[in-house]
Amino acid sequence: CGIVGYAGSVRTACGRPLEVCLKGLERLEYRGYDSAGVALAAPGMARVAVRKKAGRLGNLVADLKAKPMPEATVGIGHTRWATNGEPTDVNAHPHVSRDGKVALIHNGIIENASRLRLDLETEGYTFVSSTDTEVAAKLLGKIAQEIIDATGQPDIFEAIRRLARMLKGAFTILAVDSRQPDLVVGIRHDSPLVVGLGDGENYLGSDVAAFVAYTRRAMELGQDQAVCISADQVLVTDFQGHPVEHPRRYTIDWDASAAEKGGWDSFMDKEIHEDPAAVSNTLLGRYDESGDLDLDEVHIDEEVFRQIDKIIVVACGTASYAGLVAKYAIEHWVRIPVEVELAHEFRYRDPILTPRTLVVAISQSGETMDTLMALRHAREQGSRVLAICNTQGSTIPRESDAVLYTHAGPEVAVASTKAFLAQIVAAYLLGLYLAQVKGTMYRDEIHQTIDNLKAMPAKIQKVLDSQAEVISQTAQRMSKARSFLFLGRHVGYPVALEGALKLKEIAYIFTEGFAAGELKHGPIALVEPGEPVVVIVPSARGRNVLHDKVISAIEEVKARGAFTIVVAEEGDPDAGRYADVVFWRPPCPTLLSPLVDVVPLQLFALDMARLKGLDVDKPRNLAKSVTVE
Ligand code: G6P
Repeated sequence: CGIVGYAGSVRTACGRPLEVCLKGLERLEYRGYDSAGVALAAPGMARVAVRKKAGRLGNLVADLKAKPMPEATVGIGHTRWATNGEPTDVNAHPHVSRDGKVALIHNGIIENASRLRLDLETEGYTFVSSTDTEVAAKLLGKIAQEIIDATGQPDIFEAIRRLARMLKGAFTILAVDSRQPDLVVGIRHDSPLVVGLGDGENYLGSDVAAFVAYTRRAMELGQDQAVCISADQVLVTDFQGHPVEHPRRYTIDWDASAAEKGGWDSFMDKEIHEDPAAVSNTLLGRYDESGDLDLDEVHIDEEVFRQIDKIIVVACGTASYAGLVAKYAIEHWVRIPVEVELAHEFRYRDPILTPRTLVVAISQSGETMDTLMALRHAREQGSRVLAICNTQGSTIPRESDAVLYTHAGPEVAVASTKAFLAQIVAAYLLGLYLAQVKGTMYRDEIHQTIDNLKAMPAKIQKVLDSQAEVISQTAQRMSKARSFLFLGRHVGYPVALEGALKLKEIAYIFTEGFAAGELKHGPIALVEPGEPVVVIVPSARGRNVLHDKVISAIEEVKARGAFTIVVAEEGDPDAGRYADVVFWRPPCPTLLSPLVDVVPLQLFALDMARLKGLDVDKPRNLAKSVTVE
């Protein structure tokens, strides 16, 4: 879910809280788009004003146009990805207290909600929705009233801290109270929340995208912290009310225009075309003039790196396929085992972790709960965790021992594209750095690999420029296809998995990615005349045996009538032999080839989804950042 909060004063007020909340929700819509809502408060209001609608943000905006809301000083807004209760108007956030004076929005899952609900029902409370959030809202209203009864003064900040102490599960909660219409309060536990610092106004958001249009100054909040913002102040405490000294402030390194479509008809289209820049920006500043790797920013002692004897990558979705590419490269360069594990499986199988194991958590958002839980488990077991992450100030880098940021810029489309390439580059940098400190590669070899990496953005650009036409024609020919198989070997295998995932995610086509060698052990039974099979062919140079084996795989499926779409290196004499269509990519070293091989598959998925008239940026049922387990 996406969360935004705004506190201004009568000076700044009027339509401003609503405007900031809606703008923030627009930018956060990639976090969920089942329903959206806002709550506003201003001096003199007897109750908070709330408006919410099922469906996309556009429904709420239309409703607000038809029936405008009153002017206000503070506001909160929410865009929902339903986990608890269906996406209906009633279940949409905000939810309000029984007296209507307190409104609350929530991201996460409250695990003891049914117990708390029963307790409240015993006291005569009734509920209109089936959500855990309404339970929190009713409870917060009750606590707020108890404080007034005891002290004669409202204190919503203390009330929300008491609420935090009663909840189990994962939550970010923001609330406003009509009796304190200058404040927005929030709490976070296992769920993201950041503060934006303005002039005479302050902001809260699930991530900085919520307020980057207004300020680039931000403040991190830690686990189990509570925050209270007004126009001129930001107070941070723990759940007991002890002030937090000097929360970390930082400047957001991109501006609002980076998170806008800028003429492209979808974010995904724009972001695929940013693949070359994502690669070059991630390389930038990571090597010195001589070509030696320079990862000082990582803040782990060289000696500690030298002792590392095993790497375990934990990640989900696309990030896990970047991890699989890393396995091939790092094992080859550093000669230590690299395991790649889906983060949600990792913790439950009692993995073997020692102080010499380096756990690498890869996450674009830095908020994926499964990945966060995996890294916590690894740290509890005494292993070091290095995050590869695209989002400053997010939770995963915050809780890791070290972080290597990917500088892909904000990724808005739900299906990950440019971040995937940046993650692969960051993993290469880590591998080369380990090879440098452990001495498993010659310096010249490292320098050569860096030079090869520097040449990749131009090669990616060439794929984008030269292949778009044939890719869109192929998509048109395939527009009725109901399933696709993807085959690859070696580093082409994770590319096949990622190509299959892209098509599945945004075009809703049943796809499966396989290691090409596995074909004869089962998948070939699926091949019938006309079945589209996409094959990633390794380079033919250097008498690569895998090349010939993959060509044979194409021949085998072709013999059974498959429609074969092949991604191959320019100049490959065999690629076209059994292919119905070839997407060409420039030559490059095998270990770096995923950076060019995946690009046509991203474009292909985009074209297929567009032909079906789908919303490519917001595929059904998915959210960009899954902050629940
Ligand atoms: C979600 C998204 C995927 C993404 C995965 C991991 O499932 O829909 O596109 O790959 O999360 O996200 P992360 O932010 O951790 O890289």
